[in-house]
Amino acid sequence: MTGTPRKILITSALPYANGSIHLGHLLEHIQTDIWSRFQTARGHECYAVCADDAHGTPVMLKAQELGITPEEMVQRTQAEHQADLEAFGVHYHNYHNTHSEENRELCSGMYESLKANGYISQRTISQLFDPEKQMFLPDRFVKGTCPKCGAEDQNGDNCDVCGATYSPTELKDPRSVVSGATPILKDSEHYFFDLPQFEESLQKWLKGGNVQPEIANKLQEWFEHGLQQWDISRDAPYFGFEIPGAPNKFFYVWVDAPVGYLASFKNYCDKHGVDFDSFWSVDSDAEVYHFIGKDITYFHCLFWPAVLEGSGYRKPTGVNVHGFVTVNGAKMSKSKGTFIKAQTYRNHLEPDYLRYYFASKLSDGVTDIDLNFEDFVQKVNSDLVGKVVNIASRCAGFISKKFDGTLLLPSQLPSELTDMQAASESIAQSFDSRQYSKAIRDIMALADKANQYIDTAAPWVTIKDPEKQQFTQEVCSVGINAFRILMTYLAPVLPELTSKAEAFLNDKLTWDSAQNLLNNHQINTFKALMQRVDMDKVNQMVEESKEDLKATATAQPTGWLAKDPIADEITFDDFAKVDFRIAKIAKAEHVEGADKLLRLQLDLGGETRQVFAGIKSAYQPEQLEGKLTVMVANLAPRKMRFGMSEGMVLAAGPGGEDLFILEPHEGAEPGMKVK
Ligand code: MSP
Ligand code: ZN
Repeated sequence: MTGTPRKILITSALPYANGSIHLGHLLEHIQTDIWSRFQTARGHECYAVCADDAHGTPVMLKAQELGITPEEMVQRTQAEHQADLEAFGVHYHNYHNTHSEENRELCSGMYESLKANGYISQRTISQLFDPEKQMFLPDRFVKGTCPKCGAEDQNGDNCDVCGATYSPTELKDPRSVVSGATPILKDSEHYFFDLPQFEESLQKWLKGGNVQPEIANKLQEWFEHGLQQWDISRDAPYFGFEIPGAPNKFFYVWVDAPVGYLASFKNYCDKHGVDFDSFWSVDSDAEVYHFIGKDITYFHCLFWPAVLEGSGYRKPTGVNVHGFVTVNGAKMSKSKGTFIKAQTYRNHLEPDYLRYYFASKLSDGVTDIDLNFEDFVQKVNSDLVGKVVNIASRCAGFISKKFDGTLLLPSQLPSELTDMQAASESIAQSFDSRQYSKAIRDIMALADKANQYIDTAAPWVTIKDPEKQQFTQEVCSVGINAFRILMTYLAPVLPELTSKAEAFLNDKLTWDSAQNLLNNHQINTFKALMQRVDMDKVNQMVEESKEDLKATATAQPTGWLAKDPIADEITFDDFAKVDFRIAKIAKAEHVEGADKLLRLQLDLGGETRQVFAGIKSAYQPEQLEGKLTVMVANLAPRKMRFGMSEGMVLAAGPGGEDLFILEPHEGAEPGMKVK
């Protein structure tokens, strides 16, 4: 390692506890994890922590909908999130949730300090209230007619049609999204954090290189409009922490969420004897970095540093903002199958592929990152399989079979190898400054040179010449060492491939490995380290993501929580187009290779349709034969992996074993229209 060890704490934004991890989240966790693995490999004392964001109205309502307590929901989601992240090689020293004792204590303590320091005030405000549900409504839970252009069914805070922004009290014909009731205005006392008092120190912090320049610029708009008091309280019922000394008032979720970074770290420190205060006290010499998406910039770059300062903590060294993931040039879309969950990805593809692809696109900027499937397949196959792994596979066989598995380097090292070693600091610099795409480009240029070296030396020719045995062993040993240096540089990006490479090389890699070559060293037999990506697998993943969406009626989605949200509204005319028919299940059978599907032959009274239905978790095929059910008869036929599906069977229920196909009685006959 060069220089003195740094003390570094890294965080990723806390995923909400009411949904699954998807590709967008993964970009952030992968960006964070690469940085954390890199800093650790460089010998720094580096911790990465995260947590689930447990609080707030959406979590509360979702738990109600599922008929469980929010605590229970958070527990289950957290387990799902942790398993997903682990599968993608994302390593956190601690993964907690914000509904924890540590967080409650830290939050209360910070609030008391803010209050004692004169940053908290109270005043009564008037807000929309759902008289049926007996709760105040956050903006996004109110809909109505736009006060500017009259467009119907607009959100509580802005109009999609004319772009106007307004307060929900200005909406015409407002209604509660929760109950449909007409909200009334109701007074309530709220607590406010005095953000304007921090204007000067925030400006100083923003201009001090703690955020990217484009972020500092963007945030100037907030200063130009004048910083506002921040409303930090919410009325019961609310899933959160009660404000000390304020019964039935709760901290707004965005107050305790970032405190969750500290809480998760505190939970770790207490268990492992790490000095928490040395990271968070005002005079700390440690570095603290938050990795976040651009949508939550102002929480992290305005409120959060101000709250920290106001309550006597140090401010972050850096808030590293990234852009959004798009797929094939467009926003991730459920209907196109490009809103892909971690779990769905894993059912088809290797996590290292995605880690590599994101790394090859990430920089220190805020631009969106496009996952283009053609490019993805091409890049992984040509770079990782075709260049990096290829070097090892070209050389390993000769070393194992002819030279007893022993590496022997020439006394004069070729420049291809020494150039690779010399690149160490500049590649490190790229990783350290989050220019991952530059690091990857440089590493691949080195891989090209190594392949050219092997092409020229042609060990597959020289191996046949008894005079050139030592030469061949040396060339292959240079090749294996080149592969090892490349893997050293790629290790932060590719944990799975790295551990396979380490087993093959009989070695443990850290950043300095590049400077110490393997000579007179025994390697293990080479096994295929990475499979090529197959476009068919990508397509299957997209299909499965579409099926997830369609699953509302017919299948149990992959994650237990993966209950689909209500889809975009349709008009009555749209609805009237759907032709529901009574169908008799003439035949039902298992589909080989499908976890959820049954193949049904449906008799429509004169016509037979083949339909695949995701109801295997609830029915044995023989239970179904002879039953009547309701189907959508005019759905466009769809080619599925197992054949054509010519319609859809209606079913309802929470899923799993409790999934019920609709069974009409009372004189229903196959083919009859359902009205
Ligand atoms: N719970 C808050 C964060 C609290 S941090 C104290 C939250 N949660 S989130 O689940 O909506 O988002 C978590 C992170 O994922 C955010 O940084 C967000 O920007 C990021 N992403 C969510 N969707 C994304 C994409 N499509 N692309 C890239 N990142 C995105 O916000
Ligand atoms: Zn409008």
